[in-house]
Amino acid sequence: MKLVLVAGARPNFMKVAPILKGLRAYPEHFTPVFVHTGQHYDADMSDVFLADLGLPQPDHYLGVGSGTHAEQTAAVLEAFEPVVHAERPDVVIVVGDVNSTLAAALAAAKLCVPVAHVEAGLRSFDRTMPEEVNRILTDHLCDLLFTTCEDANANLRAEGIAEDKIHFVGNTMVESLLTFLPQAQRSAVGERLQLSRGDYCLVTLHRPSNVDDPNALAGLFGALQEIAEELKVVFPAHPRTQKRLREFGLWSPDKQAGSVVVLDPVGYVDFLWLEANARLVITDSGGVQEETTILGVPCLTVRQNTERPITISMGTNVLVGTDPRRLVAEAKRVLAGNGKRGSVPPLWDEHVSGRIVAALVTWWERRAPASVAAAAKEA
Ligand code: UD1
Ligand code: UDP
Repeated sequence: MKLVLVAGARPNFMKVAPILKGLRAYPEHFTPVFVHTGQHYDADMSDVFLADLGLPQPDHYLGVGSGTHAEQTAAVLEAFEPVVHAERPDVVIVVGDVNSTLAAALAAAKLCVPVAHVEAGLRSFDRTMPEEVNRILTDHLCDLLFTTCEDANANLRAEGIAEDKIHFVGNTMVESLLTFLPQAQRSAVGERLQLSRGDYCLVTLHRPSNVDDPNALAGLFGALQEIAEELKVVFPAHPRTQKRLREFGLWSPDKQAGSVVVLDPVGYVDFLWLEANARLVITDSGGVQEETTILGVPCLTVRQNTERPITISMGTNVLVGTDPRRLVAEAKRVLAGNGKRGSVPPLWDEHVSGRIVAALVTWWERRAPASVAAAAKEA
């Protein structure tokens, strides 16, 4: 079976890595082709993840870069179509909910190539989030939907997606975490930043609604400064966020803001160390809500909603909204020892890529006789 796997943005790499590794273990059965769209391109948003996760160099690098939603989505559509023509895969695998996910799925579906979506069915029910539009449209273009949790299965059923397309397999991001945690425990990032277990709060923020509006970002940054009076705050900032912090005059590399230490984004292994050893994590990331649940670290999510409610019902996550006063109050609750402990959701383990590969093989075997018959008829 020839499979094209598509990644483009930071959170995609940890989702494709275990699947690619699983497929590369059986070269007699699978020919995986790895495509990097180039949605993220800085070394610390891309190269470091290929290196940390042991990913091969991409077979195709599309170099689409940044742009408006239409520009970026269109650039992937245009650049990916010839790859599908050239490779003639049996299936295209897309992951997550970024613009590259939707564009690659759409290009393949229009060429009648079956598409599989890893992390299907998540819904925030908030269409002002560009990712929600990407999730819904991608799921409806796909032939195989690999889900991380029961609520995703229910969302897909409610949208009329046929039951036989839905495969509850677990969370590949968690498989990567469990694979790389031993290595992360040996990371020197703590020493480098003079951090010890439990003596700092880790922050990531990059949602446009939090960082593109001057008042919203100033309010949240002020809240972080207040929290930093009690506990050192370490903030590896996404390039979008760094740009805005500078633009709004809130921070610059030569004007560090008290105890809030703003850094460039860090690599995967170092970031896992920072997450695993933090007293508290404050974030608006999707993946970080999941990772903190597995690591048992209290997480405050600075959003009005989440497409990952299981991290609240079973995990360590608390949705705190975007009011800076509430964020400070909730952080103080955690610092007073009232952080959630949580438990591990079903199938969030190290066998997820194995389940995906098994489901692909079953699908292929069911499908192959029909295509073989069709090919024979054509001949
Ligand atoms: C994208 C995803 C978001 C995901 C996030 C993960 C979409 C719609 N959004 O948001 O779902 O949570 O990635 O990190 O797909 N930039 C750089 N260097 C880079 C990449 C980006 O400087 O390597 C800057 C550019 O100024 C760019 C901005 O960041 O315009 C935003 O990048 P973009 O890929 O459009 O969206 P993200 O905010 O990264
Ligand atoms: N991450 C990282 N370095 C950082 C910030 C995040 O390695 O400086 C990892 C994190 O461990 C998780 C993924 O990036 O695996 C989450 O990506 P991001 O927050 O960019 O996107 P989202 O999950 O919100 O789509």
